[in-house]
Amino acid sequence: MSTGPEAHSDPTPVPEQGTDPSPLDLEGPWSLLRCPRCQSGLTAVLAPDTGELAELSCERCSRGYPVHLGIPLVTARPQEWRERWEHGLGRFADWMIRAEKELQVAFFDEELSDRSQNRLRQVIGALGRHREEVLALMSRGGLTAKAASDKQVGTAGYSPETYFNHILRDYGWQSEVDEVSASWARLRQVLPADFQPGTTLVLGAGTGRLAWQLATEFAPSASVLALDVNPLPFIVTRLLMAGEAVELTELPAHPKRSSLVAQTRRLQCALPPAPRLSFLLADGLEPPVAPGKWDTVVAPWFVDEVPTDAAVVPGLARSLLREGGAFICVGPLLYDNAHTKPFVRYCADEFVDLVKRAGFEVTAGKYEAESYMASPLSSHTRMEHVLYLHARKVSSLRVVPPEVPPYLKPGPGASLPIPVPPGLHETQFSPEQVAAVAALVDGSRNVRQIVKILIDRGVLVNDGTAESAARGCLKIMLKQLREAAAGQPQG
Ligand SMILES: C[S@@+](CC[C@H](N)C(=O)[O-])C[C@H]1O[C@@H](n2cnc3c(N)ncnc32)[C@H](O)[C@@H]1O
Repeated sequence: MSTGPEAHSDPTPVPEQGTDPSPLDLEGPWSLLRCPRCQSGLTAVLAPDTGELAELSCERCSRGYPVHLGIPLVTARPQEWRERWEHGLGRFADWMIRAEKELQVAFFDEELSDRSQNRLRQVIGALGRHREEVLALMSRGGLTAKAASDKQVGTAGYSPETYFNHILRDYGWQSEVDEVSASWARLRQVLPADFQPGTTLVLGAGTGRLAWQLATEFAPSASVLALDVNPLPFIVTRLLMAGEAVELTELPAHPKRSSLVAQTRRLQCALPPAPRLSFLLADGLEPPVAPGKWDTVVAPWFVDEVPTDAAVVPGLARSLLREGGAFICVGPLLYDNAHTKPFVRYCADEFVDLVKRAGFEVTAGKYEAESYMASPLSSHTRMEHVLYLHARKVSSLRVVPPEVPPYLKPGPGASLPIPVPPGLHETQFSPEQVAAVAALVDGSRNVRQIVKILIDRGVLVNDGTAESAARGCLKIMLKQLREAAAGQPQG
């Protein structure tokens, strides 16, 4: 990425309040950003008056990518993302005002004990503070609340409340409940003794607290890019790194006592500013960065969050890493039923297999219970098993992904005849659905014809899933044939 001459000034190690602690890290991840439209490099456009980063511009197609408080938004449709955030902010503000009014009515109308009245008084005040704080922080990132149209009112939209507790956990609770240091200590246990992250991409970085830790612990060699789709946590971290005071009000969903229904905290972080930590608003599933160049890719509490098959994440990490690069994956495997189908809700052991299959050598792993989001104000927390994994990308020659034959590809593939594979008649297949499909492979039938026969026989149900079920059975059949040929036990 080329930049103007102003950008070459040395980063200030300990910034004065309000100065930018992480200007352009030209040798690091910034140079690896790519235009999501044409994959060309991006050029920094600096504001002539302040010398601050104003925009990123594509070197080839000249498309511009906006910058929010020093954080570029690099996606094919930045304006849509902005609108989603601003409409989400509008919905949040409306909701907070409504909630405040309802409580005010209850405060005056209902027969409440002194203690309950006091609780309501605290919540009413805190709702207003919380709303104002969030709106003010978002406006620091150039984002203002907009009225949501009917079309945009829905559950799928953005809310600044999503992952809000991550900000409090990372910068608010630490003097009482320090999950951050505990998690970092566990992660250190799986990192090799000589670990150096080098040029690092953190996918789904949240506040960027872990990215900050990596950039600080391994300074000056580490150069870290924290990527997320959610602006508010990044805005908070940017302000804290710039030495600004940030206050946030917490309203726990399940307070321990009526005196703990709300608390305004001054956020802080013990880490020094990290000049080689940068932030990027972008889609982590299609990161706008150069492939094959990263020394380390970190996926913290990410793989089960994305509305896709978690198996894509190790594959994605592999494509981003240089040979020998490290994939660090941390998190529980807690899938959202709404967007993850049962057959891809991998348990931790399955996920480790997926990482190996994607072309990694798993060097260390831990999978233990830990507490999650234990707010000092809350009566409720959860325990979850968390996987900490360090893996190294191995030579592509050692990875032989099974080739998907054309007749197994959805669409036109379903009308191609399925050849009889060697060993078909000598092999016993299981479970019985696989055996039923294998028995119909005769060299001329295709997937569609096999599906029809099996629906007629009542082996498959005609509910729109039969074809993919038959393809799945054929894949298992081929896997069992490979295992039989290699003399491995089947199943
Ligand atoms: C459970 S949080 C974990 C945050 C942080 N890594 C941590 O450990 O505290 C999941 C994060 O993934 C982010 N995320 C979800 N989908 C994403 C996507 N497609 N691209 C980038 N980030 C995403 C969310 O915004 C959120 O910050």
